[in-house]
Amino acid sequence: MKSSHQIFDSADHLAKTAAETIEETGRAMIDQNGQFTLVLSGGSTPAATYKHLISSKLDWSKVHLFWGDERSVISTHPDSNYHLAFENLIKHIDIPGDNVHRVASEEDTMLAAQQYQDEILYFFGMPEGSWPSFDLILLGLGDDGHTASLFPQSDAVSETASLVVENHVKKLNTRRITFTLPLINAAKKILFLVAGDAKSTMVHRILKNIDVSEPVPAQLVNPTAGEVVWYLDKSAARQLN
Ligand code: 6PG
Repeated sequence: MKSSHQIFDSADHLAKTAAETIEETGRAMIDQNGQFTLVLSGGSTPAATYKHLISSKLDWSKVHLFWGDERSVISTHPDSNYHLAFENLIKHIDIPGDNVHRVASEEDTMLAAQQYQDEILYFFGMPEGSWPSFDLILLGLGDDGHTASLFPQSDAVSETASLVVENHVKKLNTRRITFTLPLINAAKKILFLVAGDAKSTMVHRILKNIDVSEPVPAQLVNPTAGEVVWYLDKSAARQLN
């Protein structure tokens, strides 16, 4: 696994550079394969990156958007990761509706996870049991070391057969829909976007390979052939030096 990190003096500089990286990766993938499969992350950090992406020169007709995880809420709910991307990017760009692969989070979470897995396999034209390789997956980091909706000690962390599962997150008393680690690790490139002092202890643990005997979910992001890049603002990287 190729891994690197870059530290930015502000969260906005991180976001601007992340948008540039997404655009560069997208143009290369479109040149190479005629399309760009981009997996968006949730929470709050990526909003600034999505805003910067509005002005990118990407040919959105060749970009397919997916979500690495989703909350069990309707798509217009403020907690929805789709809603975050819609408000900060999708409604401002000319992207065909068929290119926006939203999780049907209004459904029962088990059903939504199965439907999303089927949609991904259908999109890639692959049979059950295959592991599609997304061009770029954006990930965030929780201060407990979760990523996507793979929370420590939750069942989905050890899932090895499915691409997408429902996950019961005890600490939040909720059920989420999430990519599994094998699907994340099949990606060509993974970009973590992490900002804020609250993440600095976990960033230090992960990037210094501490406590790997009891890894947090983000420490299990280890793509077979792909690369992992961490974009950190100064606060999140505070304990690295
Ligand atoms: C989610 C995310 C989750 C998020 C982290 C960081 O649905 O909540 O996918 O993994 O990336 O919790 O969230 P913040 O960006 O809000 O710190």
